[in-house]
Amino acid sequence: MKKLLAVILVSIMILGLGACGTPEETSSSPDASPAASSPESSSSSSPDVSAKGMLIGVGMPTQSLQRWNEDGANMKAQLEAKGYKVDLQYANNDVNTQVSQLENMILKGCKILVIAAIDGSALTNVLNNAHNAGIKVIAYDRLIMNSPYVDYYATFDNFKVGVVQGKYIEKNLGLKDGKGPFNIELFAGSPNDNNANYFYKGAMSILDQYINNGKLVVSSGQKDFAKIAIQDWDSAKAQARMDNLITANYAGGKKLDAVLSPNDSLAIGIVASLKNAGYGTDSKPYPILTGQDCDKPNVKAMINKQQSMSIFKDTRTLATKVVEMVDAILTGKEAPVNDIKTYNNGSKVVPSFLCDPVFADASNYKQILIDSGYYKESDLK
Ligand code: BGC
Repeated sequence: MKKLLAVILVSIMILGLGACGTPEETSSSPDASPAASSPESSSSSSPDVSAKGMLIGVGMPTQSLQRWNEDGANMKAQLEAKGYKVDLQYANNDVNTQVSQLENMILKGCKILVIAAIDGSALTNVLNNAHNAGIKVIAYDRLIMNSPYVDYYATFDNFKVGVVQGKYIEKNLGLKDGKGPFNIELFAGSPNDNNANYFYKGAMSILDQYINNGKLVVSSGQKDFAKIAIQDWDSAKAQARMDNLITANYAGGKKLDAVLSPNDSLAIGIVASLKNAGYGTDSKPYPILTGQDCDKPNVKAMINKQQSMSIFKDTRTLATKVVEMVDAILTGKEAPVNDIKTYNNGSKVVPSFLCDPVFADASNYKQILIDSGYYKESDLK
């Protein structure tokens, strides 16, 4: 009886919302049409029934990298499966485009903005506007800086990503066993992405000791973040820098043994440069080369021994966490967090959930990437 009463009450509430919703809830945007009557909305895994049909804005940086396409698709699918409406936008790596997309989401009446920022420091104004409209903000993968209005942050443990890359180089060169000296060059990610610094610091927490004791030699002498950072994570810029490094420092038979690349888009450019410089033969094999994201071309490069490893960040896991956060915020529950001290954005320490990164290489990629259902064998042909 009690149950029946509750159902009737909830139905009245839904009808009430439909009839006298705020302008946001009755927005004319096609994205904002009510979903409360969809079959999914009665599924038992759904959040509080009153949160259903609400519009969630998802701002992604670019479609040019595979990972963000996966992130966007996973977020959309998982949110829709819970009965939410989704406004998913990609900004072509252009900060102004991303800002206007977010402003639009605010106007359309999104209840939550999930943002993978292009420039972590360029969203202060738009977040002020979101706050004034009562919208909560979740920073996705990349921290948004200099704003008190970042409610949560969900990411992979960025420092650990660098540590795993550094350890891979340490192990595969036998540095712990005292082997060396080896030649290495270092790359870092885009300076406007807060993650890039964490990746760099994590990797250097392992590699610095060997640079200091002479077992790793950086012939270019370029090891400070500012010197080695590649703006916009751009493959072509990484290729150009690698070309210059090779010309200036590796003439006359001197070979590279390792290259630290923070991610796959840089690794693509680095491999292209190495290939042009004659690497990839028995007498001149590719150096150990790190990466991140396990993008398909890079996994193929791993299989072909051009790239050694890539950090696997399962975008399904990250999306699941963010959807849990969305549910919790909209139903007045505690959002899942497991770190409340690391990510200070300049205004506050943002409560975060850090997922665990692992690495894939030629020896384990089948287990990590195919057995987990992330890729099909045919994707990697
Ligand atoms: C992400 C990486 C990605 C890079 C370039 C970083 O913020 O954490 O996974 O490779 O951006 O898009």
